[in-house]
Parts: sequence; structure tokens; C-alpha cells
Amino acid sequence: MARVTAGVGCSHVPAIGAAMDTGITHEPYWKPLFEGFKKSREWMKEQKPDVIFLVYNDHCTAFDASCIPTFALGCAAEFKPADEGWGPRPVPVVKNHQKLASHIAQSLILDEFDLTIMNEMEVDHGLTVPLSVMYGDVGPDEDWPALVIPLCVNVVQYPPPTGNRCYNLGKAVRRAINSFEEDLNVMIFGTGGMSHQLQYKRAGLINKEWDTKFLDLMTEDPVGASQISHLEYLRETGSEGIEMVMWLIMRGALDEDVTEVYRHYHVPASNTAVGHIILENKT
Ligand code: DHB
Ligand code: FE
Repeated sequence: MARVTAGVGCSHVPAIGAAMDTGITHEPYWKPLFEGFKKSREWMKEQKPDVIFLVYNDHCTAFDASCIPTFALGCAAEFKPADEGWGPRPVPVVKNHQKLASHIAQSLILDEFDLTIMNEMEVDHGLTVPLSVMYGDVGPDEDWPALVIPLCVNVVQYPPPTGNRCYNLGKAVRRAINSFEEDLNVMIFGTGGMSHQLQYKRAGLINKEWDTKFLDLMTEDPVGASQISHLEYLRETGSEGIEMVMWLIMRGALDEDVTEVYRHYHVPASNTAVGHIILENKT
């Protein structure tokens, strides 16, 4: 059977991808950020996931105001890196496990989570940057070491889903994966965050204390984390901190009692606090 072995929470700041793509990760501004992912890359090499179920948000790349799905599941055979204004990132095309993705679509919808099914989609930094930080440099002519099933969540246009809805969706994702007959090591990523606001008077807002509390809750009290309100995210973490509801999908797909394997927190990267956590299932 397929099983969910571990979850990864990870910011997806586009400048991190640009730093890797332009070869400046050793520069003083970036070095401490990338040092903090060394252990994660070693851990990925040991774990060798077959499939990554990657929860992220599209930043008006594949979607615009004409169509705003709350949850969109990638069911295409592959997903090309999108051109976000500077040409597509020089990273591999993302390959899907289409049979598992279709199984998850069926299982979730019959489990009463109504998803949009994407049979064609380009993916932006929200998806490619977490793969880059966790795997290191992988060239456009290579393959990512794992197949990837994208789940795209609307956190751009009001109203985004609640943390509680996301947490319960994570549980349904776990049920879907556990009922797939192929023997697969599946990892789940929740991306975005941590505290950041990219515009207007509070631009540059960083709330380390709140971010640390959120990382603690990820390990110790996921149910408590699932009850954080939209208003609290906006007040404490800035307008884009709402991206953290996506971590709750990851967290819902894990056991309530997990092992925290690693954590990294760094400020700044662009206007953003970068947060990262690795959680392993005990079962
Ligand atoms: C930035 C953009 C993002 O989508 C994000 O999650 C964090 C930072 C940025 O432009 O700095
Ligand atoms: Fe983002």
C-alpha cells in the first residue's frame, strides 16, 4: 500500500529560486539560509520518496481573476515551470504519478471534498522553489528525483479556505493515499509563509515570536493550529502570512503524534521570514 511517511513545511520565496538559478547562494546574504537546508537535503537523499504530494498556491500564474478554484488537483502527466516574467526557471518539468493523482481525485470528491481537476497547468515558484531547496540544484535536462502531485490552494483572493478545512482535507488526503494499492513512499509538502506582507504600510512585517509558536504547534498541537482564525493570520503574520493555512493540509495528513526531525528559521529572504520543518510519522 502507499503510505505517508513524512511532512515538510517550507517557505517558497521566489528570490530563493532566483539565488539558486543565478549561482549566488554562497554570498553572505544567502549563505545562512542555504546552510540551513543542508541537513534537509541529506535527509531527502536517505528518505527517497517515490511521490511528493505538494501543497502550494498559484500566484496569478496558472489562474487569474477569471477563475479562482479553492482547491485544484494536478492530474496532468506533467507540469512545465511557468514564465513568471523572467523566463521559466531552469529546473526540470514536474512529472506526475497520474494513477495516484486520479485515485486521490476520486477518493477526495467521494469523501465530500469538491476539487477542481487540472488536466493542464503550469507551475510557478510556489511549487518549484520548495523542490529546489529540498533537492538542491537539478538541471532542466534531468528529472526531479520524485514524482509530484500538485495541490493548488487559493490564498490569493478572499475568501481563502479556513485552517480547519485545510486540516480536515489533509486527513482526507491521507485516507486517499492509504487506500492506493501500489507500494509507495509518499511525502507531503505544505508550502508558503512564514510571516510576510509584500505591500502597503505593513510591508516587510516579520513576527518571529508568532512564527516560532506556529512551528511549535505544528509539532505539538496540530488541532490547536487548525483553529487559528484568518484574522489572527492577517494581524500577526501580514497579508501573505495566510499562506500558512497550506501547512495545515500537510499536518492533517500526518499522525497527531509525530517526530520533529529538523527545523530552520531565517530572516530575511526578500521581504519574508523563511520557515522550515520536517515531521516524521511514527507509524
Ligand atoms: C515573495 C513572494 C511570495 O509568493 C512569497 O510567498 C514570499 C515572498 C516575494 O516576492 O518576496
Ligand atoms: Fe507565495
